Amino acid sequence: MVTHMQTPPIAYCPGSFDPITNGHLDIISRASRVFGTVIVAVAESAQKEFLFALEERVELCRTVCAHLPNVEVQSFSGLLVEAASQAGASVIIKGLRQALDLSHEGPMTYMNRSLRPEIETVFMLSSPECTYISSSLIKWVCSMGGEIEAQVPAAVAQRLRERLGKA
Ligand code: COA
Repeated sequence: MVTHMQTPPIAYCPGSFDPITNGHLDIISRASRVFGTVIVAVAESAQKEFLFALEERVELCRTVCAHLPNVEVQSFSGLLVEAASQAGASVIIKGLRQALDLSHEGPMTYMNRSLRPEIETVFMLSSPECTYISSSLIKWVCSMGGEIEAQVPAAVAQRLRERLGKA
C-alpha cells in the first residue's frame, strides 16, 4: 500500500553535446520514461575544443528534444554536482556504450559522490544500435562527405553539413 506521495525525481543528464546524437537521444528519451523531469545539461566548458558554440549546442538539444514534454534543456558551468543540486536534481544520468565508458565514468562518479553524496549517479546501457556512436566520429565522417543520417537527427545532420562545408 502506498502511504505517501513522493515528488518524481529530477534527473540531470550532463554532457558536451557537440552535437547531440541519436546515442544521447536514446538515453534521454528512455530516462524521460523513468524520471519525472529530465534536464539535459549542456556543459559550457568541458575542457574540450567545441565545433558548436554553447548557444548552438543548447538550441540543437532543444530542437531534437521538443517532442519529449518532460525534458528541459539548460546550460551549466562549474562543478556538475553543484549545477545538478541547484536545479533540484537528485540523480545524474549517464549512458554507457561499452566497458571502456565505465572506466572513464567511474572516477568521475566517485568524485561526484564524494562531493555530493545525496546525488546518485545512475547509468543506462545504450541501445545496441547506438553503442558505436560518438560526436567526434560523426564530425570526422561528415567532414569527409560521409553519410551521417543514421547517427544524428535530421536537424543536426543539416547543421553539421553547413558547418563542415559539405551542404
Ligand atoms: N551515446 C553516444 N555517445 C555518447 C553518449 C551516448 N549515450 N554519451 C556520451 N557520448 C559521447 C559523446 O558524444 C562524446 O563523444 P566525443 O568524445 O567523440 O565527442 C563522449 O561520449 C564524451 O562525452 P562528453 O559529453 O564530452 O562527456 P565527458 O565525459 O567529457 O563529460 C561532463 C562531460 C560535462 C559530464 C564533465 O566534463 C563534467 O562533469 N564537467 C563539469 C565539471 C566537473 O564537475 N568536473 C569534475 C567531475 S568529477
